[in-house]
Amino acid sequence: METLTHQGKVLRIMDFFHYLPFPMLKVMNTIDIRSANAQHMYHPMIDPKAVAQTPPLILERGDGVYVYDIDGKAYLDTVASLWNVNVGHNRPEVITAIKAQLDKLAYYSTFQNTSNPPAIELSVRLMRLFATENMRKVFYSSGGSDAIETALKLARQYWKLNGQSERTQFISLKWGYHGVHFGGASLNGNPLFRDAYEPLLPGCHLVQNPYVYRNPWNEEDPEQLAQRCLQDLSDTIERVGARHIAALVAEPVQGAGGVIVPSESYWPGLRQLLDHHGILLISDEIVTGFGRIGSMCGARAWGVKPDIMAMAKGINSGYVPLGATLVNERVAKAWDQPNVPAAMMHGYTYSGHALACAAANANLQIVESEDLPSHAQAVGNYMQERLKELLAYHHVGDVRGKGMMSAIELVQSKSTRDMLLPPSPYIATLVNSARQAGAIIRVQGNRLILSPPLVFSLHDVDETLRILHTAFTAAEKT
Ligand SMILES: Cc1ncc(COP(=O)(O)O)c(C=O)c1O
Repeated sequence: METLTHQGKVLRIMDFFHYLPFPMLKVMNTIDIRSANAQHMYHPMIDPKAVAQTPPLILERGDGVYVYDIDGKAYLDTVASLWNVNVGHNRPEVITAIKAQLDKLAYYSTFQNTSNPPAIELSVRLMRLFATENMRKVFYSSGGSDAIETALKLARQYWKLNGQSERTQFISLKWGYHGVHFGGASLNGNPLFRDAYEPLLPGCHLVQNPYVYRNPWNEEDPEQLAQRCLQDLSDTIERVGARHIAALVAEPVQGAGGVIVPSESYWPGLRQLLDHHGILLISDEIVTGFGRIGSMCGARAWGVKPDIMAMAKGINSGYVPLGATLVNERVAKAWDQPNVPAAMMHGYTYSGHALACAAANANLQIVESEDLPSHAQAVGNYMQERLKELLAYHHVGDVRGKGMMSAIELVQSKSTRDMLLPPSPYIATLVNSARQAGAIIRVQGNRLILSPPLVFSLHDVDETLRILHTAFTAAEKT
């Protein structure tokens, strides 16, 4: 890391600000902002020591499916930032909507009974978009973890309002990811996200997930595996007792856990089992919502209607933070009961933020007018097909996905399927070579994840493959 000095004295960044009479922005132009990054800023999901050792990629501009760093180098964004910039970067329609709202009213809380036009318009739009799922009401928040936390709390309150206050526990799937709040973290099916923060919420139970490439039975037939997983769920419900279980939380395609795509019968079977026991189904649509797997929500791809849907990310493509928790007719009715006190003692300062909702309205206008779910399906099919080419490389054990979600699973050897994990020179070379060749790719654990903007074209897929071949060829030489 470069050192800053003043009159021969070595300075920490804080000292540097102290010596300079300039406003902060001017200071940031004069110092090396690369070294300033690690000195005072923590980054999510990484050891701060690793951040200090590696110069950050500092991005300052975006346009469509490309982002540009502070040196002007262009990168194809194969991950839509974090599965979320679905309409692409710097869309004039979204920016204009945000600016127009900013000129009127940037923000006012929606606590108790104040409201704003963009939030109301968005609520109407969401109910129309998810009429198939019988959604009736929405509760806004500031992101995916909030949307999950809201879902869990509403599920518990639902049962209290219905006189079954002992239904407090939750079930989720192994390898599931449900954000970072204590509720969501308690449901996370990957110990990596839990270990540092345990003990977490009691009464959370994990069941086997339909992961064909790795499962305890070595079952390779997707339909047979779905049945085994459903049996595991059924056994868990019997063991815990349905009368104690509030809800099951699951992603229609598990994302951060490695893009695990269930077979056709899994979600319908899940819904049937939960209905049999009266348990609520919370669909974590934070990645799959608004088109990523080829349908307006992920559950719809499996022909299933959840009781609650947690949404964020693609709702406004990340232009302003926003989360939304939708509830169906069944759930909403609990709050409609006459003479039953039912205050929602839950909410965020930024629930229904006017700028975020204005961005969402403009963003969803694009999603609908460009029919991005269908586009994602068509271009996604092509992407899934082309990605199979990567199976030719020594350390690629599995390639899988649906729509605009894919994972390439890296293994030490194809026969043992042992995971190839960081810090592996193979993985480092893969990421660095891709970056040099002009693409941002994301490796999480032993999976290379692709989740491009939904506006990706066939040409963009070809360009991604060209860069991936370059990166894998370089990695094979390590
Ligand atoms: C399926 C799923 N649920 C919840 C979250 C948490 O969302 P956020 O990071 O906006 O809090 C994520 C984030 O990636 C996610 O992928």
